[in-house]
Amino acid sequence: MKSWAIAGIDLLLPVDRGPGVRRGLEATLRDAVRGGRLPAGTRLPASRSLAADLGLARNTVADAFTQLVAEGWLEARVGAGTFVAQARAASAPSGVPELPSRVIGAGEARHDLRPGSPDVSLFPRAAWLAATRRALAAAPHSALGYGDPRGRPELRGALAAYLARVRGVVADPEHLIVCGGHVQAVTLLSRTLRASGAAAVAVESPALPYLPTLVTRTGLRVEPLPVDDDGARTDLLGGPDVAAALLTPAHQFPTGALLTPARRAAAVDWAAGGRLLVEDDYDGEFRFDRRPVGALQGLAADRVAYVGTASKSLAPGLRLGWLVLPARLVGPVAEEKRYDDAQAPVIEQLALAELIGSGGYDRQVRRARLVYARRRAALVVALRDRAPHVTPVGKPAGLQVMVRLPDGTDEAALVEEALRQGVALDALAAYGSAGGAAPSPAVVVGYATPSGPRAWQAALDALCTVLGQV
Ligand SMILES: Cc1ncc(COP(=O)(O)O)c(C=O)c1O
Repeated sequence: MKSWAIAGIDLLLPVDRGPGVRRGLEATLRDAVRGGRLPAGTRLPASRSLAADLGLARNTVADAFTQLVAEGWLEARVGAGTFVAQARAASAPSGVPELPSRVIGAGEARHDLRPGSPDVSLFPRAAWLAATRRALAAAPHSALGYGDPRGRPELRGALAAYLARVRGVVADPEHLIVCGGHVQAVTLLSRTLRASGAAAVAVESPALPYLPTLVTRTGLRVEPLPVDDDGARTDLLGGPDVAAALLTPAHQFPTGALLTPARRAAAVDWAAGGRLLVEDDYDGEFRFDRRPVGALQGLAADRVAYVGTASKSLAPGLRLGWLVLPARLVGPVAEEKRYDDAQAPVIEQLALAELIGSGGYDRQVRRARLVYARRRAALVVALRDRAPHVTPVGKPAGLQVMVRLPDGTDEAALVEEALRQGVALDALAAYGSAGGAAPSPAVVVGYATPSGPRAWQAALDALCTVLGQV
């Protein structure tokens, strides 16, 4: 059996072992650098281990390296090894056409006040590292294998207990599926509904701009559901072929309204007889003026698919979310998950389970809640003083606030002018609007995105200057 060197890095090099092998190796390495397969700065394996891997004499490899260093393709750094030199490395274009902003997100602005992201500088790095260390020390080897598509039992158990305690969710770990955030949750649910013969789904309007697309990509039709100051107009839910309704009951996105008890009851009644309510509880832990209203799911666990996410409480980059499902949907959605990406990444799942179990997640939520509550309060006071013609609306909750503009204000022109002054905001129109009368003009301000108090203060100041001009 061939013996492989253990030290060094792997390098796939097709080498002809006949006469002229050294020159062949040189040509192969030149091609790899020229073509970009070995980018500048790549450390090559030591000549001894590369020789062992390729079945060549060590001197053959060492001589080839020496020649390529002399030609400027490689660079020998004393005591560190041999690297691909900057000078000759390919800077070939990737060949990928520029990706549209709807795929990779909009560009940078000096003050980013578009909603969506928490203050990622609050991510509890030390606690996460410690939780990961503890989780890996405790996990059996088998945890790192293929597993239940619903996710690790440690995390499903921890989340079930947390959601019951904090959000009033009726959460059986067997009904819980860990997924790649709210995006994947909606995709899996939509596919499941479509596969069961559903034709259409009601989606709040306004809503997350990409939400209708997530749904229609699975072949379902979207029926826009209007929203007013009491939340979604669940009293208007209807349509013989509408199989589900996607709602943000605790804090309508982006208007900030709380779904009233009467509208909750209307939604639950509508869902009788096999229809589904999908509750997006994206920021349910962040209510500032009182204890949060419990999840809608707690009223009718057999009619509501509850969706939660770590994207606001920890970081969107974790791509961790969870679904709590009525019993009849657990199998079909787990199957969709299985064929989508097998299961959520295990080490992150175990770390989150550990963070929740040790109380670190609660501490993080309480800490972040205080930061956002202060930001929102400061924003309301600053706008009252410096931009008296605009009105923040919605419940004191979450990470974004809708700000009403005087009637007749041109939202789009204001957003453009704000951008010229370095402030990125969203016009309400960017979130869609369900037919009927045009809503009063408004912008949506995400106050969590600026990282750290200084960036926030500067962004608030710039925002007041922009809105003070209307
Ligand atoms: C209304 C709403 N739901 C859910 C999410 C979170 O999505 P995800 O969990 O896919 O990051 C967001 C993020 O911006 C949101 O605004």
